[in-house]
Amino acid sequence: MAVGIAVGDNKKAYPGNLTPFVTVTCIVAAMGGLIFGYDIGISGGVTAMPSFLKKFFPSVYRKQQEDSISNQYCQYDSQTLTMFTSSLYLAALLASLVASTTTRKFGRKLSMLFGGVLFCAGAIINGAAKAVWMLIVGRILLGFGIGFANQSVPLYLSEMAPYKFRGALNIGFQLSITVGILVANVLNYFFAKIHGGWGWRLSLGGAMVPALIITVGSLVLPDTPNSMIERGQHDEAREKLRRIRGVEDVDEEFRDLVAASEASMKIEHPWRNLLQRKYRPHMTMAVMIPFFQQLTGINVIMFYAPVLFNTIGFGSNASLMSAVITGVVNVVATMVSIYGVDKWGRRFLFLEGGFQMLICQAVVAACIGAKFGINGNPGELPKWYAIVVVLFICIYVAGFAWSWGPLGWLVPSEIFPLEIRSAAQSINVSVNMLFTFIVAQIFLTMLCHLKFGLFLVFAFFVVLMSIFVYYFLPETKGIPIEEMGQVWKTHWFWSRYVADEDYPIGGGYEMTKGGQGPKNV
Ligand code: BGC
Repeated sequence: MAVGIAVGDNKKAYPGNLTPFVTVTCIVAAMGGLIFGYDIGISGGVTAMPSFLKKFFPSVYRKQQEDSISNQYCQYDSQTLTMFTSSLYLAALLASLVASTTTRKFGRKLSMLFGGVLFCAGAIINGAAKAVWMLIVGRILLGFGIGFANQSVPLYLSEMAPYKFRGALNIGFQLSITVGILVANVLNYFFAKIHGGWGWRLSLGGAMVPALIITVGSLVLPDTPNSMIERGQHDEAREKLRRIRGVEDVDEEFRDLVAASEASMKIEHPWRNLLQRKYRPHMTMAVMIPFFQQLTGINVIMFYAPVLFNTIGFGSNASLMSAVITGVVNVVATMVSIYGVDKWGRRFLFLEGGFQMLICQAVVAACIGAKFGINGNPGELPKWYAIVVVLFICIYVAGFAWSWGPLGWLVPSEIFPLEIRSAAQSINVSVNMLFTFIVAQIFLTMLCHLKFGLFLVFAFFVVLMSIFVYYFLPETKGIPIEEMGQVWKTHWFWSRYVADEDYPIGGGYEMTKGGQGPKNV
């Protein structure tokens, strides 16, 4: 039987408004997503610029010239080229682990600052690159920057936001990721046209702009009350909480934050702690959510959209343009999620988005399969064909952009109790980066070998992740962050890992039937 929780009459409803202060603060912090997005968008476009390929990856360039009529599936298959894209994600993986300590001991702000500065350094080296090694070193620095920013920004947002608006404010992070991707795609489109073929320098060096925004932003932002209490600054934290919530009476929320912090102080080894039985649900989510997010296959589109469109017969210019179109869809659909996440809940969006992506993957696989067959030689491609493929890719991107995209960052950042929050978030980021790396690194080879079947592999994972959400992910909308323990205690499956004393009832949550779980979708 499905047993869930609902917020009862004596619910915890901390007073507080969506003040201009918290709104502006969250918008500035969310800018941290820009650096990540800019980078995701820029690399695909740059690797589609012939002048860039000729300078750094001449063998890919030659192959592309020779093979352009024969096997389309394999024209970009080069390990060095994919290393260029994916080296960054390994660096980000390492940095997010280091960031756990910085974020916990010195506050969320300092990690954001590190993120901005490292990213800036990487952008300068990349813009000035003379050889492949400079490209790779630059990308490693960018990766360090992203590791720090992605570890700290989502936590910052979830802690700052009044709980009723937490979903919307947190998704500001994903929104700026998508804006970063779009801006990068538009810039690539124009820079690729520059005579003399040095436009890629502007594309890569341009990463300095979002880096400076988050660097300056992190210097002016306040720390979160949760983080200040965690570091012993109680009076300042209470003042800050009043300012953020825009009300005098913040006592109840403040007391609960202090209680959460005291629990967290008892923990000396947050990493070892993660293995305790009562954190099994959290750890499962910290690993499975980012894993599934990447196995939607979204980054095949994000990194390689221009390459992919090129492969299915668009010219280089038309390919970049189509990438711009998917970029716009990505931003707009993210806004839908901002609107709906605190109304319709996380589970609804996850399941609807999954269904939508599944349909599109099947259609795209069928279209590509029908025309390119096994040998990758399409002959003449009619115009309607290209339109259908782009259309379904857009519907797919929209599905991702209001489900797994934002929720892949939101849900982990809101479910971890304070005592493991920073460490668990690092796991979330590193798993995300690991699978971003794996998908980026093997996509072009997989395309070459699995051909259109590649899209079916991702479709299979979309089915799997939807089943996972349906059975194992409780609804988290409208529940204060430090009260989240209740959702596990009342969950049909996770309740066996979480004992009553692990999360003493204090929040006035009642047990009801059907609040969440398999029966209530
Ligand atoms: C993912 C990225 C992806 C982006 C697309 C993010 O949530 O983590 O890997 O490229 O969304 O918008």
